[in-house]
Amino acid sequence: MDKGKVDALLGIVFGDEGKGKIVDYFTPRYDIVARFAGGPNAGHTIIFGGKKFVLRSIPSGVFDKGKLNIIGNGCVIAPDLFMQEARELEQAGYDVRERLHISKRAHLILPTHRLLDKAYEAAKGKNKVGTTGKGIGPTYSDKASRTGLRVGDMLEGFTLKYDTLKARHLQILSDLRYTGFDIREEEREWMRGVEYMRGFSLTDTETELNACLSEGKSVLAEGAQGTMLDIDHGTYPFVSSSSTVCGGVCTGLGVPPRSIGEVFGIFKAYSTRVGSGPFPVELTDETGDKIRSLGNEYGAVTGRNRRCGWIDLVALRYAIMLNGVTQLVMMKSDVLDGFPTVRACVAYEKDGRQVTDMPFDTEGWKPVYEDIPGWLSPLSSCRSEQELPQAFRSYVSYLEQQLQTPITLLSVGPDREQTIVR
Ligand code: GDP
Ligand code: IMO
Ligand code: MG
Repeated sequence: MDKGKVDALLGIVFGDEGKGKIVDYFTPRYDIVARFAGGPNAGHTIIFGGKKFVLRSIPSGVFDKGKLNIIGNGCVIAPDLFMQEARELEQAGYDVRERLHISKRAHLILPTHRLLDKAYEAAKGKNKVGTTGKGIGPTYSDKASRTGLRVGDMLEGFTLKYDTLKARHLQILSDLRYTGFDIREEEREWMRGVEYMRGFSLTDTETELNACLSEGKSVLAEGAQGTMLDIDHGTYPFVSSSSTVCGGVCTGLGVPPRSIGEVFGIFKAYSTRVGSGPFPVELTDETGDKIRSLGNEYGAVTGRNRRCGWIDLVALRYAIMLNGVTQLVMMKSDVLDGFPTVRACVAYEKDGRQVTDMPFDTEGWKPVYEDIPGWLSPLSSCRSEQELPQAFRSYVSYLEQQLQTPITLLSVGPDREQTIVR
């Protein structure tokens, strides 16, 4: 961590890598923690002192008194869900108002954006993205169409702006023949959320952040989703709608590229994916079921089963390249404790042709595996590298060699304490 720099912690596969846990763990080293993309489609789990929190829009640095947390301009925010999330934290004794600033330029998710999300998914039939239903795609579409509503709009002439956008959405829903909904109660709650949000510091966070950087303060940018869900670089169209990669830190916070310091790429010892779309390493057999149940791989936001498979080095190399990852953080190795052999996908194969670079269309490719001996011993009680079994240490070295990037942090359980610095 360098003073005056923005370090980024980015999910580099399909999300749910454990970003919340590590941002919370890293927070004491930084002055500011900032979210730059996504919204309540994220679910970031933090466990410490016997307590568990799942954050959606609020940065995972919120548990550390005295640290500033920022929801940046690249984010989208649903006032009703935000109110729910912030109140839970307030009830647990965390002063969110004191610790959080929200960008006036972040876009608002309206109740009708959520309806549009569902309507578009329904219209897609078999080709559903499997979205979280939180209105993410329609909100970013309005942003790109220059019709969106922003947090700053809540401060002046809001009702007219809201009614105009809502009318536009209702027209689209009617064109799609998506009817039979009643959002009056949801809308009332949403308006209560708007009122609640007005009591927060709604600021020009990019100006604030740059001033902090000039003073030598340090920032941790907390990624949401993962590189393979990035709107440009993921498995399009089965992606989310924001820039989840390192470039998104600059646009989503308004900080210059030269301010970027370390780029932490976070990944699991195996692969998961929620929602539809190509997933070459997916295991639809009992091994996949075993990983799901041992890893508790059920969505933090929607409760859906996460699809599971072996680690995908093709995807990881691609993500390391795109993000300029300088250090890797490896999560959930403890889940593979009981496997005599673990596998790593080193290439994809189709019609007798092998590739090691991410192809344009990941549909139809089969994984080419290398087998690595398992460690068959519990990792979750280890607290230092020396305590780790030799077979596991060899596996970590194998991955570092394959990925040409150092793995500097290992997580061996969900608790804040179950973290090993190398
Ligand atoms: P995020 O979206 O990247 O913050 O990740 P999620 O919170 O959606 O999913 C990660 C899940 O794995 C959460 O339930 C965490 O509590 C859990 N977890 C994090 N690190 C570890 C670990 O090292 N081992 C195990 N077994 N669970 C972990
Ligand atoms: P965190 O930050 C895992 C997936 C959805 C769907 C696709 C598009 O917790 O890692 P969206 O609602 O964004 O339009 O859905 O992206 N997705 C995630 N998968 N973790 C996430 O966030 C995700 N956010 C979105 O399942 O396939
Ligand atoms: Mg998650």
